[in-house]
Amino acid sequence: MGHPALVQPAAPVADPTVPEIHRLVADMFETMADAPGIGLAAPQVHVPLRIIVFRVPGERGEDADGEEVPHTVLVNPEIEPLGEDMESAIEGCLSLPGMAGMVPRYTRIRYRATTPEGAAPERVAEGYHARVVQHECDHLDGILYPMRMADLSTFGYVEEMHRGMAAGGDDEVGELDVAEA
Ligand code: NI
Repeated sequence: MGHPALVQPAAPVADPTVPEIHRLVADMFETMADAPGIGLAAPQVHVPLRIIVFRVPGERGEDADGEEVPHTVLVNPEIEPLGEDMESAIEGCLSLPGMAGMVPRYTRIRYRATTPEGAAPERVAEGYHARVVQHECDHLDGILYPMRMADLSTFGYVEEMHRGMAAGGDDEVGELDVAEA
């Protein structure tokens, strides 16, 4: 956070199938795995293009079809909220390491994109899947999750949150598992 690429809109990709984009996507998956994270947007590696990668591990809940979401790349993604329902949950971001906060997101969305393979996927996503896609797409518009937060008192260092929960005798201390994206 603080790098100019993170707070400006990214440019559409003219041709997602060219070798340069394949290379960039491979680098992004590698960066995401190394971090480790569950999602990454090109502006987070200082490339101002509309590309995101993510995955939804099985333990993070299932998508609308009841399946784990494998490693996915979306080029020029577009999101359409399905309904007005929103829910708040804790989020972290690789661009704000060690921090987390409660962020309201649409519960259910439809997204469309293109891929480096030339496909044009369209999907309905719910819950955690919908959250990750909204978080990553925000990066393409120069929006970081604190800018979406409704209550900044829930923003802080994950380590302090764990300490506070332990001091309060909170049984959920082991359940605060913040994934960065
Ligand atoms: Ni992020």
